[in-house]
Amino acid sequence: MFVVFRFWIALASCVILTSGCGAPSIDSAHSELDASVKQGPDTKDAFPLKGDALIKVKKELAQVIFPFSREHPFIGRLYPSATSIVFDLKNFAGLIFKLMGDEGGEEGAKKRIKQSDYVREVVASRRLFRLILPETQHLEIARDDLRKGIIVERKYSLVHGDIPQKRLYEFYYEQFKQNPALQERFKEIFRQLAVVVSCGGANDVLFRNFPLTDDGQHVILVDVMPILDRSTYANLIRLLWMAHPDFYDTILQGASGCLSMNEEELINKLAETSFYLNYGEVGVVKSFKNLEEMKKERKLSLKEKIK
Ligand SMILES: Nc1ncnc2c1ncn2[C@@H]1O[C@H](COP(=O)(O)OP(=O)(O)OP(=O)(O)O)[C@@H](O)[C@H]1O
Ligand SMILES: [Mg+2]
Repeated sequence: MFVVFRFWIALASCVILTSGCGAPSIDSAHSELDASVKQGPDTKDAFPLKGDALIKVKKELAQVIFPFSREHPFIGRLYPSATSIVFDLKNFAGLIFKLMGDEGGEEGAKKRIKQSDYVREVVASRRLFRLILPETQHLEIARDDLRKGIIVERKYSLVHGDIPQKRLYEFYYEQFKQNPALQERFKEIFRQLAVVVSCGGANDVLFRNFPLTDDGQHVILVDVMPILDRSTYANLIRLLWMAHPDFYDTILQGASGCLSMNEEELINKLAETSFYLNYGEVGVVKSFKNLEEMKKERKLSLKEKIK
């Protein structure tokens, strides 16, 4: 409820103060609403957590996760997740915790850290300044003879879930005609996403895994977990479907570098990949014969909103 409320407040601020939603106006509405998140008592801790901060966090986690109880009074909120338990603690408002499900287990947590180290390297070496990878740390929590690994990350102030994130992206798309600078910024965001996806850095391409900050300045790469049975081409198709169709050429350009192929070869590869898409929204499953058809459909789906 709070998230929905915050989302509409943020969007209302954008509409009222129209000149480019990167303006400080949205930030001030935001920081008022999220004061606790941004300036809570333990949010200034540097990563990796250490010393007293680390001891305090581990002590609380030991009480919450053996076994995990969503009713525990220390828990702040749970975040939408299909594969793990993602939550925060009231006393550590700047942190978010990820407990892998039994299938993922310890191995899953370690893989996740390894993958995020790799993506950090891609983001830094290719200067992907519109993408932010949250700092991450793997913690071992013990109580009596029980032991569990958990991931802690710096928490960003965001709207959560596929549908709210889709709305946020498309809210910005609607303003492109009046604001070419905004359109250029988003083009760059999608170029950078195409680079990270094609370099194998982000495998589960969904709005909820690439949340946009409310001010439309950055994408936070909250979930770069490898998904082994999905090809890079399938991920690129998902990225194209997230994007505004005017960015398709930019996405293909951005992707071709890491894949060591030219755009024409890439288009052929994409055409061979079955264009089957389920991008996380209930009831939305799409299939396309080719890229042009996809572009047309995506335009139509956006036109319903663009007057
Ligand atoms: N660092 C972060 N800051 C703010 N929110 C976050 C952060 N990490 C995750 N979230 C929120 O929690 C949700 C679930 O996190 P994450 O995607 O890492 O879990 P998951 O188990 O891999 O999810 P799934 O498999 O369903 O995609 C994200 O979609 C996002 O809304
Ligand atoms: Mg996710």
